[in-house]
Amino acid sequence: MRKVLVVLIALMVIFSVSAVAAPKQWVVGFSQIGSESEWRTADTVSVQNAFLDEPSFTLIYSDAQQKQENQIKALRSFIARKVNCIVFTALVETGYGPVLQEAKNAKIPVIMIDRDVAPADQGLRLTIMGSDMVKEGEKVGLWLETNLKKLGIDDGKTDIDFAIIDGTVGSGAMVGRKEGFGHILANHPNWKVMHEQTGNFTTSEGKQVMEAFLKADPKIQVLFTHNDGMGLGANEAIKEAGLKPGKDIIHVSIDATKGGMEAIVAGEINCIVECNPLLGPQAVQAVSDLRAGKKLPAKIDTIEGIFDSTNAAAALPTRQY
Ligand code: AHR
Repeated sequence: MRKVLVVLIALMVIFSVSAVAAPKQWVVGFSQIGSESEWRTADTVSVQNAFLDEPSFTLIYSDAQQKQENQIKALRSFIARKVNCIVFTALVETGYGPVLQEAKNAKIPVIMIDRDVAPADQGLRLTIMGSDMVKEGEKVGLWLETNLKKLGIDDGKTDIDFAIIDGTVGSGAMVGRKEGFGHILANHPNWKVMHEQTGNFTTSEGKQVMEAFLKADPKIQVLFTHNDGMGLGANEAIKEAGLKPGKDIIHVSIDATKGGMEAIVAGEINCIVECNPLLGPQAVQAVSDLRAGKKLPAKIDTIEGIFDSTNAAAALPTRQY
């Protein structure tokens, strides 16, 4: 009887210790592309804070300053340090195959967040978490499809003069948004893209590019900027040219940063498709699941909205970025 009691107590001790046992300490390397936009800063802070809040993780952060070679170096240093997992946003889609293969050989799982690598290299990473960039481009096109008619700008026949300021050439965000917008554009032969150039996702380049567009063609009717940062820069150029953004030029954008939302409320941007940068909590959840031996889905989507004059003012006070 005494023996049974001792065994029972021992088992209870074992169970209670294992029930509260702390998770294994994991080191995670995070390779960010840089800090080209307000959006990017919000994304970086979200990921850093989420890992900081979870003491069983040690985060090694590396800022590539918009240089792919810096990112590849950072990934190699994570591999050399034998981190448990890599969280990675790709500056552009191509050129990471060899280093991702090295991570795979070293059995280090790679979780992409925000921007993915090209399809040919997707087998080398575990999953991608973030926005569907193709859908974002489609949503922009669909908003225009409905609203250009409502505004009396599109009669389905007369040519409409479009300008597009793209994000960083070759980045997942730029490639996807261009593709998605192209799906809708293809249904509207009278939407003429007369001007298209990259503004590298920065406000200053957005302004410069729009200045050049307007010098060449003051009759632009619709502007699509691939992010709000460039959109706000472009709006400065439009105002300096004596025109009213949102009125003389219909302006659609992506991100829904506070600055962008304020521009909708001021009537200077007509529509913004949301791209959510607050990926930290989801990233921590995914890495925790991985550590616990769970299988991650091949794609982890973020839920995103679309804003225009009907709902931006109500949403503005709760915007976090
Ligand atoms: O990859 C997401 C894009 O990159 C965001 O739209 C933009 O603001 C950022 O710089």
